[in-house]
Amino acid sequence: MRRPKISVIGAGFVGSTCAHWAASKELGDVVLIDINGDAAKGKALDLFEASPVEGFDSTIQGGSDYSLTKDSDVVIVTAGLPRKPGMSRDDLLSTNAKIVKECAGQVARYSPNAVMIIVSNPLDAMCHVAMKASGFPRERVLGMAGVLDGARFRAFIAEELNVSVEDVQAFVFGGHGDTMVPMPRYVSVGGIPLEQLLPKDKIDAIVDRTRKGGAEIVGLLKTGSAYYAPAASAVQMAEAIVRDKKRYLPCAVYLNGEYGTQNLFCGVIAKLGAKGLEGIPVLELNETEKGMFEKSAFAVRELVEAMDKLGL
Ligand code: NAI
Ligand code: 2OP
Repeated sequence: MRRPKISVIGAGFVGSTCAHWAASKELGDVVLIDINGDAAKGKALDLFEASPVEGFDSTIQGGSDYSLTKDSDVVIVTAGLPRKPGMSRDDLLSTNAKIVKECAGQVARYSPNAVMIIVSNPLDAMCHVAMKASGFPRERVLGMAGVLDGARFRAFIAEELNVSVEDVQAFVFGGHGDTMVPMPRYVSVGGIPLEQLLPKDKIDAIVDRTRKGGAEIVGLLKTGSAYYAPAASAVQMAEAIVRDKKRYLPCAVYLNGEYGTQNLFCGVIAKLGAKGLEGIPVLELNETEKGMFEKSAFAVRELVEAMDKLGL
């Protein structure tokens, strides 16, 4: 029986960690591609050599030649520059747009039926670039941000309440930027609404820390950005697809009127299965949530328009 094939484009911190988790979960055979082909090949070989110790059966190949990715089921795109202290995700716009355009074109050439998960920043704008360059339908272009931002939100809540992270369900809406919209009204801790467990000032502090979660790590690492939680999040999306799990996960999807938003990638809850995007449950938002979501969508639209003006 053919095993699923997962390719990861960009073998830097996020990409190589994605390969590690995808292989160790035995999601399928893994391919790691980078402009620096030897580095990708070396990391793939090193990971393969870990497999007898860890006990996973996945082949792992690396290089710069996209023919290695042929007929992938899922492709995770992490190629591009990460931000450094003082930079916003948006500062990466034109450099990463050129990189993602090239990568998505190659992905489509070799794997015309794959589902692409975009990770490169600025995330929502890079999803637009990937959809245009690949010609894929919206069902097969997804952006990873909500699982990560939601995971940060969940981790901080669990830490504050001294409860298991497993019992905290929480998500974040909107674009992956400073205007993202953590949704405390929908948080449940073992089925109990968060508002019954924490006072408003504590919830507000956690919301604020979640919004700044990426910058907190950049400030500590100094030479790059987060990669363990981002890679775990992208691999959770890949798993939902290759195992056809029909999961509800927050991700950036191309909205076609949902939440009053047209022709724009933005973070919402999406149903993920073998076909990629298999549905968008539309939640009821109150006036405050609606206002914050619209503000965040507007920030994404400004970036998309900036790319159009630059001819990207
Ligand atoms: P990194 O610098 O460690 O790795 C990037 C890799 O991309 C490098 O190995 C580089 O050689 C490669 N690359 C550059 N141009 C390429 C091309 N044309 N074709 C193939 N490979 C190419 O950076 P890191 O930390 O892995 O981050 C990657 C991207 O992911 C960044 O844009 C970062 O901002 C973004 N990111 C997004 C997150 C999200 O939540 N959406 C979370 C974390 C990172
Ligand atoms: C993060 O949120 C850099 O977007 C990345 O960590």
